Amino acid sequence: MAKLMKRKELEQHLQDLDGFSKPKILLEQYETRAHIAACMLHTIESAYGDLGQKTILDLGCGCSVLGIGSVLMGASYVLGVDVDEEALQISTSNINQFELTDIDLIQCDVKDLPSVLERKAKFDTVIMNPPFGTKHNKGVDSLFVEIGLQCLGEKGVLYSLHKSSTRGYFNRKAPGWKVEARVLAQLRYDLPATYKFHNKSSVDIEVDFWRFGKK
Ligand SMILES: C[S@@+](CC[C@H](N)C(=O)[O-])C[C@H]1O[C@@H](n2cnc3c(N)ncnc32)[C@H](O)[C@@H]1O
Repeated sequence: MAKLMKRKELEQHLQDLDGFSKPKILLEQYETRAHIAACMLHTIESAYGDLGQKTILDLGCGCSVLGIGSVLMGASYVLGVDVDEEALQISTSNINQFELTDIDLIQCDVKDLPSVLERKAKFDTVIMNPPFGTKHNKGVDSLFVEIGLQCLGEKGVLYSLHKSSTRGYFNRKAPGWKVEARVLAQLRYDLPATYKFHNKSSVDIEVDFWRFGKK
């Protein structure tokens, strides 16, 4: 079995990636910081073994910090999906920087993904940091989870970040989706001020790190 990359080493690699050059507020384009991404990915692999030799769907991939991190943690294949062409261009450059060949990207709105994939592709693991649904896109956070669950194989699992204020909502939805839902950790997430119309350069919000596993 390959040796697990240390969390600190993973974080250092992820720090080298380019982020959004001109983030689009309506698409809630803020990248997962290297420290949070490394903590998430290291937990997913060390506690659950859900990255090593697994096929991964990185939904709303942005600049692909989660997808690239997944490959560095041993994933066999990653498909990154984002609606925004410019984000995918930055992803391509980041992927090339690491000379990775096991990542594909497609431009697609999450709502169209099931028909684009046509039931052919089922993934072992879905990872995402979706829009929180605060920019005239209410409900998009839940839509990302629903679509992600549809793209999972029989024993698939989905990892996601959501505002802690929505914890009750996801706990109520999980039985209907036939998944076991668990908050693995609560994180302090520094959201760039532009997304909160705040006069500080960033503002901390409470975010839950979720694991949704098929029953
Ligand atoms: C919060 S960012 C996270 C980016 C990246 N996953 C990360 O962790 O750094 C959300 C991403 O979702 C994408 N997005 C927003 N709405 C979308 C939609 N309807 N379909 C697909 N992607 C979408 C945005 O372009 C953005 O890249």
